[in-house]
Amino acid sequence: MTMPNSSTTYISQLKDSVGQNVTLAGWLHNSRSSGKIQFLIVRDGTGLCQCVAEKGKVPDELFEHLKRLGQESSLTITGTVRKESRSVGGYELAVTDAQIISPAEDYPISPKSHGIDFLLKNRHLHLRSQRQWCIGKIRHTVIDSIRRFFNDNGFTLIDTPIFSAAAGEEEQTLFEVDYFGSPMYLTQTGQLHLEAAAMSFGRVYCFGPTFRAEKSKTRRHLTEFWMVEPEVAFIDLDGLLELAENFVTFIIAQVLQDNKSQLETLGADTAALEKIKPPFYRLTYTEAVDILTGEKTKKFLAYQLEDLKKQKQQLETKIAELEEQQKGQLKQWQQDKIAAELIELNSDLAEVNTRIENNPKHAKLAAEFQWGKDLGGSDETIISQMHDKPVFVTHYPKEAKAFYMKTDRDNEKVALNFDLLAPAGFGEIIGGSVREDDYDLLLDRIKAQGLIAENYDWYLDLRKYGSVPHGGFGLGVERTIAWLTGEKHIRQCIAFPRLMDKIYI
Ligand code: 4AD
Repeated sequence: MTMPNSSTTYISQLKDSVGQNVTLAGWLHNSRSSGKIQFLIVRDGTGLCQCVAEKGKVPDELFEHLKRLGQESSLTITGTVRKESRSVGGYELAVTDAQIISPAEDYPISPKSHGIDFLLKNRHLHLRSQRQWCIGKIRHTVIDSIRRFFNDNGFTLIDTPIFSAAAGEEEQTLFEVDYFGSPMYLTQTGQLHLEAAAMSFGRVYCFGPTFRAEKSKTRRHLTEFWMVEPEVAFIDLDGLLELAENFVTFIIAQVLQDNKSQLETLGADTAALEKIKPPFYRLTYTEAVDILTGEKTKKFLAYQLEDLKKQKQQLETKIAELEEQQKGQLKQWQQDKIAAELIELNSDLAEVNTRIENNPKHAKLAAEFQWGKDLGGSDETIISQMHDKPVFVTHYPKEAKAFYMKTDRDNEKVALNFDLLAPAGFGEIIGGSVREDDYDLLLDRIKAQGLIAENYDWYLDLRKYGSVPHGGFGLGVERTIAWLTGEKHIRQCIAFPRLMDKIYI
């Protein structure tokens, strides 16, 4: 196998090479031939480029070879760069030569769509698809902007441990591992250790993989996900909300700046993202409950049901039209295109059908919601569907939330906590709180939740030696990416997802 030499050009650099002869090194993403001309779409990790090989302008033998070249074969391809706004990426290569590095035959993922199960089984290959590539580039920006925001705002990075001796969140979601014969757990949060570090550094953050044995197959749950958690000494609830909204706004601005074309390829609503500026909406839990159980929500959900039924009708009509077209005389690429569209439309139809089925159930749950329970996924969805910017829900009942949250001294039933719900039905992306800083009250909360107090001796110490008001929050990276990109399921937002029912590869 020959290595392309160092004089190859990246597709992302083509704008600076118009009129020049360049060599690209990459993979054959797609190709079609119309007799004397072949259109080869090459990808190289930085973008896509249409390379046009004309009979007579490349050696005959090569022309025939390229015609038979399988999808995902690796190659170098040489030609003159020209600007072509109709072409993917905006530039084209008029091919003069090519070298096949390693031919691929029968690549299992063809340009027409496949079912999600098949794609997850082939994730090692599906990562090369345009969609996964776009999401991967956006994920890169999200992670980079997370680090940048905290590094530029006086926070110190602390690496908290993955092996944990006790629960940081609900005990039911702990993953137990055998640690030299004793039980140990994979961390659910770096928060408790981060609180210790905040008493040394003031403002800190940790960023890493987090594990939850969440027996939930929803689109919002992974068993391994990435969470960034800032923790700040001397901060109150208002200060935390301000930090969270500035942080989320910063991430969005970076993604809009660096990944506009990827967002557009994914069909994300960039106009809606551009409008997201502080202040975000603020509701107390009690206000949220009043909304859920009120007339406005009832009407909103009834209207939504009508709208979903209309969407269902439109999708069914479109599907029937395409199925009719399929029966006609079509070229292979036209058949593939229709097949791909049909898979998309049928998946949208399945989603709409599920929502039609769930609407009355969710309406009932909302109408009968009792003060005191945590908001469920469907309740959060309703609140977030009713807003066009993120919504903070604050002051949840303390009994429904984690032991470490500070009791509101003005209303002992609630804690100084919050969730941030992304708008347009996406739901929770951040959970956070002020921490209980009083030794006795914290010990009471630990006991009240049935936890073993000795496991938290060191954590209680932080309330013995110079306790201060402090707090923080955790933002889920995959949920944030799913919201920004409009992906329905967060499993698409991490390269190798870990799900409750299956680890594919
Ligand atoms: O609300 P959570 O459980 O908060 C904590 O873990 C706190 N200790 C954070 C803190 O205050 N330092 O989780 C925070 C966020 C959620 O809002 C969500 O975005 C994400 O983590 N998350 C998940 N993401 C994917 N799959 C799961 N199973 C998740 N569970 C939580």
